[in-house]
Amino acid sequence: MSDILQVKLNNGVVMPQLGLGVLKMSDGDDVRKAVICALREGYRSIDTAKAYGNETGVGQAIKDSGIPRKEIFLTTKLWNRDQGYESTLQAFQQSLERLDSEYVDLYLIHWPGKDNYKNSWRAMEKLYNDGLIRAIGVSNFQAHHLDDLLGSSTVVPVVNQIELHPYLTQEELRSYCSSHDIRVEAWSPLGQGALLQDQTLQGLAKKHQRSVAQIILRWDIQNGVIAIPKSANPERIRENMSLCDFSIDAEDMKSIDNLDRNQRTGPDPDVFF
Ligand code: A2P
Repeated sequence: MSDILQVKLNNGVVMPQLGLGVLKMSDGDDVRKAVICALREGYRSIDTAKAYGNETGVGQAIKDSGIPRKEIFLTTKLWNRDQGYESTLQAFQQSLERLDSEYVDLYLIHWPGKDNYKNSWRAMEKLYNDGLIRAIGVSNFQAHHLDDLLGSSTVVPVVNQIELHPYLTQEELRSYCSSHDIRVEAWSPLGQGALLQDQTLQGLAKKHQRSVAQIILRWDIQNGVIAIPKSANPERIRENMSLCDFSIDAEDMKSIDNLDRNQRTGPDPDVFF
């Protein structure tokens, strides 16, 4: 078993702080190989989504790995077109079928969209109360979306999965989430690879004798952020979870914080419908 740290979510469910993201991996062998490799290396958290089109391959890999389902933390997401009460119930059922699983550990609203997330959330609360999902959360929500959702819901999202990396440190949103006991989860923690060329990060990597990816992921871990780096390469899959044998001091943490440029690699949640 891995030495990956775990965090306790606001409903008491425990989640690994590092998982494998499978965005851009095609269904079938591509995603199957990566997930099996990650599980062999000790990962116990896999993050997929209906929109990635690879839930079937993820489900197959989990079965093929021989690791009991209950030892794996599986996340998937509700796609924008499926928002709404009845359509969320239906989309969730279809995800379960593709994943070939009786339940999901974490189900997220993928993007807030325009005006339907409260209906979607009511359906997710039902699925949660029915025991089909162990924890429910959101993705790409800004503070104003969360304010609006919290005002009319009974279950507080356990996580908000957002684009977060040293060029987009999201300090305000992180502090908002922390004050509502919502864990922040980072998608594209490596800025889709763009950050690997950064001079400051390269200097820190040299100093700590680690890779730039490890420096960034360790920064996430020390900030209490959950990270789901994507890699389809066995060596990098292994590298990305080897984070427990070094630490970054306060001064170096600060120099990473200072790289913030409010620069997104993905869409702005306020205009992505
Ligand atoms: P690959 O799948 O070939 O490893 P993000 O998670 O921020 O979206 O970044 C994913 C990108 O970063 C992918 O292109 C992935 O490529 C690459 N990547 C993942 N881990 C590492 C690593 N440890 N070193 C270099 N590149 C990495």
